[in-house]
Amino acid sequence: MAIERTFSIIKPDAVAKNLIGAIYHRFETAGLKIVAAKMVHLSQEQAEGFYAEHSERPFFKALVDFMTSGPVMVQVLEGENAVLRHREIMGATNPADALAGTLRADYADSIDENAVHGSDAAASAAREIAYFFSDEEVCPRTR
Ligand code: TYD
Ligand code: MG
Repeated sequence: MAIERTFSIIKPDAVAKNLIGAIYHRFETAGLKIVAAKMVHLSQEQAEGFYAEHSERPFFKALVDFMTSGPVMVQVLEGENAVLRHREIMGATNPADALAGTLRADYADSIDENAVHGSDAAASAAREIAYFFSDEEVCPRTR
């Protein structure tokens, strides 16, 4: 399996609960290296653009309000099978359905405030990484 990259957000609820370090620890112990990272307070336009695929869904306005309610951490994760591996670590969208030991089972309160985002495929990972980071901001990891 080739090394690939995926995109991650630690959402406002998890940042507010001081879980950045705990979540980074999960990534690193799972073999996902952090190759770019920054804290951002999303504007309404940024959040709407990021979640454009959901713009017709009934939860869209609540999702944008939540994602702009406080700062988030955005990062690029690199590792073997990173997109799928990261989705496994996150757990199901609804924390009530998330397997024990996943980030959402442990840290999310509800489906609409569910602690973390992760790209769902290689193509969305490329788009989402480019939405937040220039090529120069992503650091190749040689060891
Ligand atoms: P989605 O892409 O389906 O989930 P995931 O984050 O696991 O890829 O939905 C994006 C976000 O929209 C989800 O993390 C939380 C929010 N959402 C709701 O608030 N209610 C819902 O019923 C769904 C499906 C999503
Ligand atoms: Mg999704």
